[in-house]
Amino acid sequence: MRGIVLAGGSGTRLSPLTKITSKQLLPVYDKPMVFYPLNTLLRAGIKDILIIVSPEHPGDFLKLLGSGKEFGAKFTYEIQDKPEGLAQAFIIAKDFIGDDNVAMILGDNIFEDDFSKVIKKFKKGGHIFAKKVSDPERFGVVKFGKKGRAIQIEEKPKKFLSDYAITGLYIYDNRVVEVAKKLKPSLRGELEITDLHNWYLNKGELKVDIVKGLWIDAGTFDSLAKATQWALRQDSGQAMRRGK
Ligand code: G1P
Repeated sequence: MRGIVLAGGSGTRLSPLTKITSKQLLPVYDKPMVFYPLNTLLRAGIKDILIIVSPEHPGDFLKLLGSGKEFGAKFTYEIQDKPEGLAQAFIIAKDFIGDDNVAMILGDNIFEDDFSKVIKKFKKGGHIFAKKVSDPERFGVVKFGKKGRAIQIEEKPKKFLSDYAITGLYIYDNRVVEVAKKLKPSLRGELEITDLHNWYLNKGELKVDIVKGLWIDAGTFDSLAKATQWALRQDSGQAMRRGK
């Protein structure tokens, strides 16, 4: 299993903070945001990781993360020239992925859960993760049928579909590269990750699990503040356990 951290995009929702740096390098309490998703892959045992960045900030990421040696891993870098959609990452990562399966995480997504077991067990198809939220219109959304199986997936639906947001961790088998290459841009000009989910869903090969612990997409001011509060609480919890 290969890993991708997608840290491209222009982060306009966090302007003016993102005028001078990348969204994924902004602090979440005592660490840059990207450390959290990177750690989700590392703790799941993924050691070969491609970091996809925007053309404005490759030097900053390299300076922060380096070769990966410090993290006991190997990091490779690619540039996403334009923010043309999350699914484009699989085309950019084609050579890196080779014949392997791949787990991609978004550089602004913070998870509490440990995904080691699912990642180690994964063989074929697609496996994504959902979480009940109060603002589903911000996200890709999944509707579950009576038997708890995913039946419909839509990107930022205008009309209420479900309050289960699809989180930014995606595990796919090797076919994802070819499927991504065949996608057509959506009306907003992007290759949509939702179209990849739907390809696997239509084949009956998409598994959707519920995230148990906290999940935050830290891409807005409010969610970034929430993430910082959470990281601070974690830290003081740990300090108390250490008897400080
Ligand atoms: C993206 C995806 C969306 C997903 C979300 C999770 O949205 O397009 O399906 O629910 O990430 O963070 P974005 O945050 O890029 O608007």
